[in-house]
Amino acid sequence: MICYSLTGEGLVGDGAFAAGLSKALGASPGELEIHRFPDGETRVRLCTDCAGQSVIFVHDGRDANASALPLYFAAHAARAQGARRVGLVAPYLPYMRQDRSFHAGEAVSARAFAGFLSGCVDWIATVDPHLHRIHSLDEIFAIPALCISAMPAIADWIAAHVTAPVIVGPDAESRQWVDAVAGALAAPGMVLVKNRAGDRQVSVSVPDAQLLRGRSPVILDDIASSGHTLAETAKALRSQGSLPVTCVVVHGLLADGAEAALHAAGVERLVSTNTLAHASNGIDVIPLVARGIQALLEGAGN
Ligand code: R5P
Repeated sequence: MICYSLTGEGLVGDGAFAAGLSKALGASPGELEIHRFPDGETRVRLCTDCAGQSVIFVHDGRDANASALPLYFAAHAARAQGARRVGLVAPYLPYMRQDRSFHAGEAVSARAFAGFLSGCVDWIATVDPHLHRIHSLDEIFAIPALCISAMPAIADWIAAHVTAPVIVGPDAESRQWVDAVAGALAAPGMVLVKNRAGDRQVSVSVPDAQLLRGRSPVILDDIASSGHTLAETAKALRSQGSLPVTCVVVHGLLADGAEAALHAAGVERLVSTNTLAHASNGIDVIPLVARGIQALLEGAGN
């Protein structure tokens, strides 16, 4: 098995997740070269021959626009070399939040991107994709699509670092993660009510402040992008007299200004998993991802 990191000239990512995954799977790390010509076109080269091998590409979803075509070229090159099976590990699966046409004429990017990836590779694995109006990846992928949950690792982190937690979800779609983690910890959980008026305009209200009494709130969400969902949730909790707030997210996209917004909201600490490299990474999901992929490949006879 060969594991290539989709990183190179013009793309973000340091290949750390791919290197860790390759080691955990006992795969050989493959060398991949991406060159960007002065005119903006891209050349992709698989320097490690993958003939007869099961191939995995690891893609940094923070860079989806720039890396989609290089991924297509890389998968094409792997097949041309005679790869047995080509898979994609996208620890963060981008575009899942655009899961319907919110305004006339808008592309449903989640479906379109899944269709594109289905044409690139034979299987995909990802961690806690944003499943909201789309309930399962099978609805949008034409290839086997594995969802790996980071919640066991998140529950372990909270158990080790937070005394008497209450798990708080900022909005309706976070209920799935709140239920999983609160259940694993036998801790109370609550889901707040969020309204979004724009990319950085979010308001959050707390329906039942009683659960906060004497407990340390841990806001749990799948994604922090602008950081405003977490920031407004933290403000709403603090305005109800809560103890200091910890934020835990699976995918720390953390766009410019996000950390400043969290700091201004009085968030005491922010922890993310390592699906996207960031200074806040404190929870390693590579063992969970490796186990999921091993089961997927064994099931498929690879
Ligand atoms: C959307 O519902 C997601 O679960 C997150 O709550 C959202 O993407 C966070 O975005 P931001 O950090 O920009 O508020």
